Amino acid sequence: MTIGIHDISAATGSLVFALADLAEHEGIDVGKYHRGIGQTEMSLTAEDEDIVTMAARAAAPIIERHGTEGLRTVIFATESGIDQSKAASVFLHRLLGLPRAVRVVEVKEACYSATAAIQFALGIVARRADERVLVIASDVARYELNSSGEATQGAGAVAMLISENPAVLEIEPVSGVWTDDVWDFWRPNDRSTALVDGRYSVQVYLESLEGAWNDYRAHGGADFSSFARVCYHQPFTRMAVKGQQRLARIADPDGESTDIDRLADTVEYNSRIGNSYTASIYLAFLSLLDNGPDLSAERIGFFSYGSGAVGEFFGGVLVPGYKSQLRTEELQNMLAARRPIGYDEYRHRHIAYDRVGDFETADETHGDVRFAGVEQHKRLYEAR
Ligand code: CAA
Repeated sequence: MTIGIHDISAATGSLVFALADLAEHEGIDVGKYHRGIGQTEMSLTAEDEDIVTMAARAAAPIIERHGTEGLRTVIFATESGIDQSKAASVFLHRLLGLPRAVRVVEVKEACYSATAAIQFALGIVARRADERVLVIASDVARYELNSSGEATQGAGAVAMLISENPAVLEIEPVSGVWTDDVWDFWRPNDRSTALVDGRYSVQVYLESLEGAWNDYRAHGGADFSSFARVCYHQPFTRMAVKGQQRLARIADPDGESTDIDRLADTVEYNSRIGNSYTASIYLAFLSLLDNGPDLSAERIGFFSYGSGAVGEFFGGVLVPGYKSQLRTEELQNMLAARRPIGYDEYRHRHIAYDRVGDFETADETHGDVRFAGVEQHKRLYEAR
């Protein structure tokens, strides 16, 4: 029995802000962003968008294609949760019109938790092959204005259907895992922006990669040279380069896997969307699927990282014919359709994001699903 990703689809915020604009106002060379961290733009959410509306936009094409037969679990991974108690997937459940006989839950561990969600989903399908699990990764990445993380904000969602006999990726059973209680990046309950010890977070990311890789190998994981590509969590795309260099140094010092050109197809979306936390590594994967050559039957590696910190390395094999499952044009059109905003509007929106109490949002996105506002502390979503 093979289990893995049967379908995958993504969405992003409907606004875009160019890092050239940020650099110009900061009076610094844009090369720091374009080449130094590997980012050109960041997606931002409009007033009536959030993690739920992006998740609905990502998941709707999957439900449309496969229906709800056998779908009994939805796991929503996020670190930008909108309620401390109610799972974001409860809102999504209604917006997608899913049947009552579905369990829904939200999971959290910084940018890592979508990978945990996939592992939980694999377990469910291994026990009941007639069941399918919808895994959602959706986040709005926000840092303080004028902070080191400001250029690495972003917004995006990826939805994945996990099933037996998958049409896209068969996930292999070996995983390498690593956990350490550190303070590299966190978001206390009273803040809507993350706190980060930037340089330290880069160091922990790489330690975690090395730890997870060593555990992967200790549990019988494949040789580094057998991976056609590796998809990394990309807080900024240059981080994938640092990861590949570290892994190649410890795992394949004389091999060709040090060739960082092999990362090129995995960074296309994230360099334009910015950090999307839980969704980032799966956007890297989708970017490879959409923009890379046909890698049917090739092994792909995944390094998932969540600050705090947890890392996991695992592999999967691309199913021949997977290219026919993709919706490449849809995401590319969505990226092209984002409305560009300038520096003043960007800053104004950043400050306005933190409003509290009851409010109505402006009808900015004109999509099928929108966040309408807050009434008596309840978030309101409309499907039209
Ligand atoms: N042209 C080309 N390159 C330039 C340049 C120029 N004009 N100016 C600077 N650079 C290069 C620098 O040499 C540097 O390259 P190296 O990393 O190879 O040394 C790179 O641009 C970045 O420059 P700095 O290190 O000076 O940048 P910084 O310290 O201001 O910010 C950062 C870097 C600390 C990572 C910051 O972006 C940050 O705080 N980001 C948020 C935290 C983060 O993303 N951490 C990643 C690991 S944690 C994680 O993965 C979880 C998560 O999602 C948050």
